Amino acid sequence: MKILLLGAAGQLGRQIQASNRSHTLVALTHKDLDIADLEGVRGAVGAHRPDLVLNAAAFNDVDRAEADADAAFRGNALGPRNLALAAAECGAAILHVSTDYVFDGHKGAPYHEYDQPGPLSSYGRSKLAGELAVKELNPRHYIVRTAWVYEPKGNNFPKTLYFLALKHKEVRVVSDVKGSPTSAAHLARAILNLIDTGAFGAYHLAGAGEGASWFDLATCFFRELHLDTAVLPVPSTEFPRPAPRPRYSVLRTIQAPQILLPPWQEGVAEFARDIKAQFGDLAQ
Ligand SMILES: NC(=O)c1ccc[n+]([C@@H]2O[C@H](COP(=O)([O-])OP(=O)(O)OC[C@H]3O[C@@H](n4cnc5c(N)ncnc54)[C@H](OP(=O)(O)O)[C@@H]3O)[C@@H](O)[C@H]2O)c1
Repeated sequence: MKILLLGAAGQLGRQIQASNRSHTLVALTHKDLDIADLEGVRGAVGAHRPDLVLNAAAFNDVDRAEADADAAFRGNALGPRNLALAAAECGAAILHVSTDYVFDGHKGAPYHEYDQPGPLSSYGRSKLAGELAVKELNPRHYIVRTAWVYEPKGNNFPKTLYFLALKHKEVRVVSDVKGSPTSAAHLARAILNLIDTGAFGAYHLAGAGEGASWFDLATCFFRELHLDTAVLPVPSTEFPRPAPRPRYSVLRTIQAPQILLPPWQEGVAEFARDIKAQFGDLAQ
């Protein structure tokens, strides 16, 4: 299959390229193409004529999206809309990646694909608008919701923790917000499996298990790094942020075919090994 990948320099984009074995991949970064530019998108899709457009590009600054909703909607709604339209025009399918932040967190139990979204933030609303545009404009779509994504080269919470552990004997971490930590490498492999199925629709692809708080994630990560840095649980009120976030956004899947990622703890263990290889072993 020929795949046109957008967002190639992001966490997921990098891991799709690293995991791909069997497809012809044309990988475009933000510098190569702004997905909010309709004519640019039509030009790229028309020139490469892919079988599938894989959108890993997004405006991911959840807090900045509160102050600049237009930027969030350009990246997360107009961008995927342009891609879905251009893909449909040349007979290509589309895989679009979305987020657990389309949910409000009030369910108190893991969210599946048929649960009702209710975003709390500008970022969440822009991502939901992107999902709806893709559904409306290209019937041959996969919509993949994921959560709490990390990989060694990206900017993410576990990597921030690693650098905090360099400087501090203890770190304070929020314990009353729960989600599904997801290794970008595991997500990339699951997506590459999904696109072989031809079973279009919505999928929740995130680290398996009952979910974790940021505190659980930090505790697991430091254990894997063999660090004795103390992790102190604190309420989210201790770290007020501009954007409201769901307190509980654990994802599960009831979709068929069931595509499951490994348990979230396995992703953290692999990440700890990768981070040690990249930046050194703090336990030594
Ligand atoms: N990271 C998470 O915790 C998380 C959680 C839930 C869902 N997701 C979703 O998972 C997907 C992949 O996320 P990720 O963590 O890989 O994101 P990422 O590391 O932030 O990468 C996103 C990439 O998209 C690019 N981009 C932004 N706006 C663009 C535009 N208008 N045109 C073209 N490229 C653009 C960015 O380039 P610049 O940096 O140059 O702007 C960046 O390289 C996204 O759909 C995201 O919403 C992520």
